[in-house]
Amino acid sequence: MNAVSSTARDISMKGAGYYSKATTGAKEVIDNATPMVLGAIEAMDFPDDGRLITMSDMGCADGGTSIEMVRKALTAMRAKWPSCPLQMVYTDLPRNDFSQVFRIIHGQTDIKSYTSEIDNLYVFASATSFHQNIFPAETLYLGFSATASHYISDKPANITDHVHMVGASGSERQAFEEQGRRDWESFLLNRTKELAPGGHLALFNFGIDEEGRYLGHTGGVSMFDTFNEVWAELRDAGTVTAQEYADTNFPQCYRTVEQFTAPLTDESNPVYQAGLRLKSVETRVVRCPYERDFTENHGDAEKFAREYIPTLRSWSEMTFASGLSPDRPVDERIAILDGYFDAYEARVREAPQGHAMDYVHIYLVLQKADN
Ligand SMILES: C[S@@+](CC[C@H](N)C(=O)[O-])C[C@H]1O[C@@H](n2cnc3c(N)ncnc32)[C@H](O)[C@@H]1O
Repeated sequence: MNAVSSTARDISMKGAGYYSKATTGAKEVIDNATPMVLGAIEAMDFPDDGRLITMSDMGCADGGTSIEMVRKALTAMRAKWPSCPLQMVYTDLPRNDFSQVFRIIHGQTDIKSYTSEIDNLYVFASATSFHQNIFPAETLYLGFSATASHYISDKPANITDHVHMVGASGSERQAFEEQGRRDWESFLLNRTKELAPGGHLALFNFGIDEEGRYLGHTGGVSMFDTFNEVWAELRDAGTVTAQEYADTNFPQCYRTVEQFTAPLTDESNPVYQAGLRLKSVETRVVRCPYERDFTENHGDAEKFAREYIPTLRSWSEMTFASGLSPDRPVDERIAILDGYFDAYEARVREAPQGHAMDYVHIYLVLQKADN
């Protein structure tokens, strides 16, 4: 496998519960937007006829960040369809730490689970990529996904002078946008096949809002530029090679509102023709909880830097690890990664103002047309 495709294959969040613990902002994103999920349930118009009703969380990581939303959604479904068995399916990629998902959902961690509160509920997991079909046709009633569809199925190119497509230009930027367009369309087409008529999707995706803002780029120090600058410093110091620097690219595409909604508004698009409809779209910025705590509460730069870096590391480390040559001994790779995040932490500690991983999301609620 070449460096391009191995990067996309190797996506995963840090396991063993690290993800949920370090990513309180992602939970806030989901918790704040839970009314959209509940609104979708309310809008669904099925009789209480004993049918199996399936909900999914696609790209769930360890399942901790969505747990309160899932509790509320399943509680609302149980009340609305008392005779129907409920099936909750967590999906992610094969490298995901699924044992942590099961430990969280079965109440074996300090996170409060919902399973004992809802009867006739069956919980499963699938490691099939959301770029493929996960469910049999017309069996999915409520598909949820947060902060995941920006991961594209393959990295289409190396970016010459940056680590993320937001810093790319020309044909390199176009290649990422085209891959993002194809993957988004096939994500939606796969889900449309799986949805029962009248079923809904609630998709809260990273994207670029109307003011050009995106994750960690809302007016202060740009997070992806910092990732790139610190990685380039390691290249310039000879710690990583020029090839390793070039091979290090996030397999992600941040889409604009127009790019997200095009398959749903263009009547000639296969997604529109398959019957998927846009019910609502909005953008929101959720402030970085670590920066907020620093600015409004403690003012301690060292504490801010110490708490802030793990949230970045929880989802970005695998990209930097994938860029390193597989010929390096594991210990050497770990030492480089530790040094890299230490250097980022030192930057924040020494000049904390403006660092923030503010979340910028495009929130979509979609419905499969009822026959
Ligand atoms: C940043 S995490 C978000 C986790 C959680 N949904 C949240 O909002 O906190 C992105 C997740 O998407 C998963 N992911 C990326 N590509 C995927 C794919 N093709 N199919 C399923 N999951 C995928 C990653 O493995 C990761 O667990």
